[in-house]
Amino acid sequence: MSVIRKAIIPVAGFGTRFLPVTKSIPKEMIPIIDKPTIQYIIEEAVESGITDILLVTSKYKKSIEDYFDNFKELESVLESSKNYEMLDMIKNISNMVNITFVRQKEQKGLGHAIYQGKTFVGNEPFCVLLGDDIVYNRDKPCLKQLIECYEEYGGSVLGVQEVKHEDVSKYGIVDGNKISENIYRVNNLIEKPSMEEAPTNIAILGRYVISCKIFEHLEKENYGKNGEIQLTDSITNLISTEEVYAYKFQGTRYDIGDKVGYLKATIDYSLRDDKIKHIIKDYLGEKLK
Ligand code: G1P
Repeated sequence: MSVIRKAIIPVAGFGTRFLPVTKSIPKEMIPIIDKPTIQYIIEEAVESGITDILLVTSKYKKSIEDYFDNFKELESVLESSKNYEMLDMIKNISNMVNITFVRQKEQKGLGHAIYQGKTFVGNEPFCVLLGDDIVYNRDKPCLKQLIECYEEYGGSVLGVQEVKHEDVSKYGIVDGNKISENIYRVNNLIEKPSMEEAPTNIAILGRYVISCKIFEHLEKENYGKNGEIQLTDSITNLISTEEVYAYKFQGTRYDIGDKVGYLKATIDYSLRDDKIKHIIKDYLGEKLK
């Protein structure tokens, strides 16, 4: 079985749920405390064993490329002021993993974005991480859990959790047979169904391990839900020739594309930060009195 080394992270979207700030700042560069959200996603990939990442970007996202590049002038300022802790942190951002970029020239949907990674992926299974979903698990990153499931079962693996019934229309929904405590064999997937159409409330939440055979399906995929080329539809087509599994991962997942989800993440991460957690706790305690 192939070792999983590569990941694709699509970052070309306009981030309309976060306007007006996303008019000039990519949503991936909005910070949770002092770190852009894209860095949380990339760190999860690196901690899961990924060595090569492709960011599918657009012409409006140059600041993401700059962020992961070297910044020699800043490094020499930090060096001469002997701020070695900060220097290491800054260097690590550009050195932690190999990152390449490809432009998605038209916004035709998630399936189309992933298709831009065909050459990068070649003939091995790969991961996809979506930037709107941040998952916190102190002991084992979400993607690592999926990779371990892949290593045990083979086949593509979708990261899922149960969502509220009224929220099924925001997600790709899984229909499958439970084969162990946290694993389903997928029979069908429906992208953003209505509550009536949804066979379950098991939702795909922004983490995937996918067979490279997906590109054969993406290549001929038709426009699907909301007039977009949907990754979900091509994964459904993959089921006719290969097993696809859904893995109920452990961890707290934040929908940071949503304002409330973003604020929850900011509060929770500040309560996990040793340097500020006591101050924040006292402050929240005061406010809620
Ligand atoms: C995408 C996928 C959907 C998945 C969701 C997870 O939708 O198409 O299947 O459940 O991400 O966040 P989007 O939110 O990009 O419209």
